[in-house]
Amino acid sequence: MAGRSGARLRLDRQSPHPLLRRLADARRRTDSLFRMLRPEALRERPITARHRLIFYLGHLEAFDWNILGKGTLRLESFHPDFDRLFAFGIDPLDDELPSEPASFWPEQDVIAAYNRAVRRRLDARLGAALDADSSSAENAAWVTNAAIEHRLMHAETCVYMLRDLPLQQLLAPRLEPPASGAPPPRRRVEIPAGRTTLGRARARAAFGWDNEFEEHAVDVPAFEMDVHPVTNGDFIRFVAAGGYEEPRFWSAADWHWKVRLGLTHPRRWIRDGDTWRFRALFSEMRLPQDWPAYVSHAEACAYARWAGLSLPTETQWQRAALCTPDGRERSYPWGDEPPGASRGNFDFHSWDPQPVTAHPAGASAFGVHDLLGNGWEWTSTPFAPFPGFRKDDFYPGYSAAFFDGRHFVLKGGGPRTAACMLRRSFRNWFQAHYPYVDAKVRLVAN
Ligand code: AVJ
Ligand code: FE
Repeated sequence: MAGRSGARLRLDRQSPHPLLRRLADARRRTDSLFRMLRPEALRERPITARHRLIFYLGHLEAFDWNILGKGTLRLESFHPDFDRLFAFGIDPLDDELPSEPASFWPEQDVIAAYNRAVRRRLDARLGAALDADSSSAENAAWVTNAAIEHRLMHAETCVYMLRDLPLQQLLAPRLEPPASGAPPPRRRVEIPAGRTTLGRARARAAFGWDNEFEEHAVDVPAFEMDVHPVTNGDFIRFVAAGGYEEPRFWSAADWHWKVRLGLTHPRRWIRDGDTWRFRALFSEMRLPQDWPAYVSHAEACAYARWAGLSLPTETQWQRAALCTPDGRERSYPWGDEPPGASRGNFDFHSWDPQPVTAHPAGASAFGVHDLLGNGWEWTSTPFAPFPGFRKDDFYPGYSAAFFDGRHFVLKGGGPRTAACMLRRSFRNWFQAHYPYVDAKVRLVAN
């Protein structure tokens, strides 16, 4: 545990520990999501591979309780059935979709009472544990970070589910129609051969998920990358050219999946005669041409093959986003200043995508735009451990359960990705056949 900083560096012990404040903020964030739903919507299952929404109401607290209350503070369980029932809710592959009836889940107020009890018990003990003068405080800080980031990840992925609910099920106000215009011309820039650093050093980290370790350098041959991600305007041409009817653009597995689901266009598009409409979170509108197309990995690959280009590898993405022509590496595409609203569409400022040209202040040193925010970017790299990977005791299956060749790494971040997860070593992943994620297509020429 040596080197895990945080608890030890804190001199002012009068005010609440910063991690308690962040946990409270994250709770407010997820609480407000559940308040956006009509009560009957809670029992819907908008994404067939995920649990019904009501599961997540219990999941966030059960997760915190399991890793922090039981696991770290060694508290006695007061509701072991709920601790188990709400413990895990990941995406199963096609053959094992959940099928329990809506009535399977407990009443909403019973879950809410469990949640209040979890918060009361954690909040009574966590402050003292974080302030203790020992390596156990460093461990408590590590696991509290995990609870905060886990909750914030669900704050994002629950919105993927809300995007699939009928508009009447959402209680939130209607927003102003967002800006959009013509898509920018397609341009590519050269990324010269060079070195890039992936991952992160365990000894220096205050927190990171298991899949981020260890740090290692990789040499990357020269390649070209598109300045902007693929827009809806670009993707329309693939659809109009019959891209969804041409098996030669698709791998066999992707084609079978597409046929089985009857897909003829990206998930959030709605056909309207000869034109297209778009389902934003709180409204429907004409398809914004200069917004990024959000698609599955399968559709991203088919588009790339049609365009005669490729998705970047994780390493290429890292090199283009975070290295500079003079051989330095930086924390973010724009430099080392922390993420602010002018740099990209992330950290909950917007519910929906924005034009791919909206944030020139977020461009990378090589002149690539919109890398961080406005949608994750699919890579061609299957999700796999870095050299030196080690499971965490508090959550051994967090990543290891998905090292199966059927999940792919995504880099970047979306409109609902919290700033803390925009760090350079953060890796997201989803199965190739997942059309719900806010994920765009970035193309490279090798
Ligand atoms: C890292 C976003 C792919 O939501 O499936 C949440 C994170 N793991 N609860 C997911 C996660 C367990 C995970 N992703
Ligand atoms: Fe979870």
